[in-house]
Amino acid sequence: MTKILITDGTLVTNQGLQSGDVRIRDGVITEVGTALTREGDELVVDASGQWVGPGFVDLHTHLREPGGEAAETIASGARAGIAGGYTALVAMPNTEPALDTVALVSFVLAEGGRSPITVAVAGAITQSRAGEQLAPMAEMAALGVRIFTDDGAGVQSAGVMRRALSYSKPLGVRLAQHCEDATLSGSGVMNEGPLAEKLGLAGRSELAEEIMVQRDIDLVRATGASVHFLHLSTKRAIDLVVAAKIEGLDVTCEVTPHHLTLDESFCSDYDPTFKVHPPLRSAHDVLALREALRKGLIDAVATDHAPHTPESKDRAFDEAPAGMLGLETAASLTYEALGQDKCDPELFYTVLSRGPARVAQLRHIDRPIGLSPQGGALSVGEAANITVFDPRVSWEANANTLQSRASNTPYHGRAMFGRVSSVISKGILVLQEGKLQ
Ligand code: DOR
Repeated sequence: MTKILITDGTLVTNQGLQSGDVRIRDGVITEVGTALTREGDELVVDASGQWVGPGFVDLHTHLREPGGEAAETIASGARAGIAGGYTALVAMPNTEPALDTVALVSFVLAEGGRSPITVAVAGAITQSRAGEQLAPMAEMAALGVRIFTDDGAGVQSAGVMRRALSYSKPLGVRLAQHCEDATLSGSGVMNEGPLAEKLGLAGRSELAEEIMVQRDIDLVRATGASVHFLHLSTKRAIDLVVAAKIEGLDVTCEVTPHHLTLDESFCSDYDPTFKVHPPLRSAHDVLALREALRKGLIDAVATDHAPHTPESKDRAFDEAPAGMLGLETAASLTYEALGQDKCDPELFYTVLSRGPARVAQLRHIDRPIGLSPQGGALSVGEAANITVFDPRVSWEANANTLQSRASNTPYHGRAMFGRVSSVISKGILVLQEGKLQ
């Protein structure tokens, strides 16, 4: 096993920030202190001027395998994850076929087990994600699946969602909802409003999202179960979730880096790279999402990393599939959304690591499926899943140098601030000075 010494970092611990060093042996943090002396055969990660905290956890990654390997594989997605600072990814089930059986979930867990980071799985709520018959959630939960979703689409029927929630509760698992009422989102391709009208593109309304958020909050109240709201994009959706939390309901939510940094005006050139579901919203919504994030009202920043091949994506805006890459730019964009030099390192690691680990129940793992506890406390005895972030670096995003198999990033050529420099996963140095090991 590798022996590692991280030196001179700003450590993000559960007791607050402290300057110091971290020693790692056999996958575990064995010492945290200052001026620790280097032992002969240790790899040294010089973290002076940098932040050292728990490895990032992405609650929302489309790894595309099985079925979409031309766009991404579990292995290439995991490499993109490492480059972006992630030590754990939750694989979304809208593959071909959908991850709705023990056999398919087992396949992804086994394949993910070959990567140096943790690949957890979100199982489907309904069979084939068709929104009708419940998938065998109990059987998938027995494999260690802790979160279920039909993401890509919301569960449209309130009756099916209520049944799914009642079924999920005794299993101790969380349902995650893609909130769009299809009767309102219809065939819209960008945010509904004056800009869509001017561009002659069909709109996708904010109401489509908000009505489903409200419905599911009511269903959580009725069933006592829990829901995680995926990729919320409107001010009112956030307000509804915050109110439900104050009421004491077990609800959590995420926002994406793109909804925090891009607004609908990026659709003005009809570039399909900017097509995503839910769509990029108004500048007013972007500001409201940032404000909620800065106030600590959002549980997680989650990427909705959605790789698409150039053949499928490079089409007319209204024909192209929705989705954009996220893993390799998320940390810098979160840093930007949190105010760059005003960004609080604790909040940064809360929304990228501790919060998502809690939602995905990856903090404590009780089943031997090769998953390693995530979102930990950077203290002695914890699993060594660690991400080092350098807030001083600026760089330019480049679609041609990504680890992902796909290149549909909306940030090509954009200046980025702050960058992940090193990642330790399960005690192994998998990224050093920005290079995959
Ligand atoms: O834009 C999106 N793309 N939103 C989703 O919910 C699904 C994703 C995909 O799978 O491409």
